[in-house]
Amino acid sequence: MKSNIHSLLEQTLNTLIQQGVVPAEVQARIQVDRTKDKSHGDFATNLAMMLTKAASKNPRELAKLIIDNLPAADYVSKVEIAGPGFINFFIDDNALANQLQHAVNDSKLGVNLPKTQTVVVDYSSPNLAKEMHVGHLRSTIIGDSIVRTLEFLGHNVIRQNHVGDWGTQFGMLLAYMEELQAKNGQQAELELSDLEAFYRQAKVRFDESDEFANYARQLVVKLQSGDEYCNKLWRQFNDISLSHCHQVYDKLGVSLSRSDVHGESAYNDDLTNVVADLDTQGLLTESNGAKVVFQNEFKNKEGEPLPVIIQKADGGYLYATSDLAAMRYRANVLKADRALYFVDLRQGLHFQQVFSLAKKAKFVPEHLSLEHLGFGTMNGEDGRPFKTRSGGVVKLSDLLDEAIVRANALVRSKNPDMDEETVAKIAKVVGISSVKYADLSKNRTSDYIFSFDQMLSFEGNTAPYLLYAYTRVVGIFNRVENIDLSDATISLNHEKEKALGTKLGQFNETLVRVSAKGQPHVLCGYLFELAGAFSSFYEACPVLTAETEAQKHSRLLLAKLTAQTLKQGLALLGIETLEQM
Ligand code: ARG
Repeated sequence: MKSNIHSLLEQTLNTLIQQGVVPAEVQARIQVDRTKDKSHGDFATNLAMMLTKAASKNPRELAKLIIDNLPAADYVSKVEIAGPGFINFFIDDNALANQLQHAVNDSKLGVNLPKTQTVVVDYSSPNLAKEMHVGHLRSTIIGDSIVRTLEFLGHNVIRQNHVGDWGTQFGMLLAYMEELQAKNGQQAELELSDLEAFYRQAKVRFDESDEFANYARQLVVKLQSGDEYCNKLWRQFNDISLSHCHQVYDKLGVSLSRSDVHGESAYNDDLTNVVADLDTQGLLTESNGAKVVFQNEFKNKEGEPLPVIIQKADGGYLYATSDLAAMRYRANVLKADRALYFVDLRQGLHFQQVFSLAKKAKFVPEHLSLEHLGFGTMNGEDGRPFKTRSGGVVKLSDLLDEAIVRANALVRSKNPDMDEETVAKIAKVVGISSVKYADLSKNRTSDYIFSFDQMLSFEGNTAPYLLYAYTRVVGIFNRVENIDLSDATISLNHEKEKALGTKLGQFNETLVRVSAKGQPHVLCGYLFELAGAFSSFYEACPVLTAETEAQKHSRLLLAKLTAQTLKQGLALLGIETLEQM
């Protein structure tokens, strides 16, 4: 069985609708879910209930019509109607075993999608004026795991690091850079190695000297009108700032490269067009000298209309203006079917407003799916936004270094005799993956408490637990010498073999869910359950001492597919696996 059973079921139901066997709205969404309780079979669909209106039949009657028209399929052993009109499907064990057999020999583990899309993913996107801090962690790693998952599913993915590299604060930074360079050419480079301090000092100068502040304002204007000298300074600054970002990306194992940077400045030339086009369509209003758009559906608490500010009275453009230009670019140049934005939930209103405006202004086609996939705040153990002891922002790179130091102590305590170099190598993977996994395994939209102790625990849904589980599975293969599994077949007889097989068979649909909603925690939960299913199987079903050669081979194949799935699943979360730890 080449396709996986879940997609086959969805396709079969889809065909019934396409052929008009079952009357339906054109846009009917077919959903086949796993059942919670095995007595209801393996899968269930509420399709009949969804379609009653269009079909003007009651759901149970409609469910019967669907079942009567299902083509005979050997992978379904039984179908029944349940409750108000659910259809339950029982899957044949041999068909599942066949699906797994195909997966274990396939480099994509049997994962495939009938239809792929072009998906533009905006993530990480820090402001370059400052150094990356913990607030950038979530966007960076959640976005990266979704990008990897989408690519694995075969989608055409375009990464966009929409960095904040434009705007008034750059005048201040350039003015300060110039001041330092005039004093001593080398100095600026040196001081930029600590961007935070550089920003702070520039701000001090800006606040203390009117002359400096005025000069800074002049530089912004010059920069924005294309002045050669200012642009050179600006490029220098951004280059250094971006190399800081990429050091963090490297440490984190994030797949963004320099060519994915397409920041706010990239839209500078289009901003006058944005204003002109909104104006032509009669969408612009003047408000206190600024150009704004009012949309009826956006009101503040007092019921007054909320504007999107497009251009300030002094001629300056805003965050929203470049986002409008960016949407056009993503739709028309990059040809996106979906545009995803991994940005803090606190920017929710901004995205609702600009998404709706982009559609109203026909900057993007109606079918483009614009999705703000927001996330909550990472808090300290006191439940408040994560800060240093003295209340400052925590630099992301310092946080990662601390994780590695702590992981080092942990690995050392488990392996007193291990050599220093091996401990360090393992600690790096454990430290980084613990930070990532702790974040990815939480529901994206909730706030969470950052705790080194929790994330480095071997118990529960953590990176160390999963990494260790993986080493245990691959460890089995160190104990069998030169075994040839090329003629081996998977058969599912024991109840625990079936349970493990069922979990393994869910990889494809799990990834589809993860990518549809941008939810890596669904993948984490799946891998955690898979590791659990494997432990129960391994306890109940001897592998190396199985009763027959055939049984041993079948169980080894199940172990192999488990190892492959854990490794691939973790890789999609951006987490490296270890052979020992
Ligand atoms: N630079 C922004 C920030 O740090 C995030 C940008 C997100 N992307 C976007 N297209 N607006 O808050």
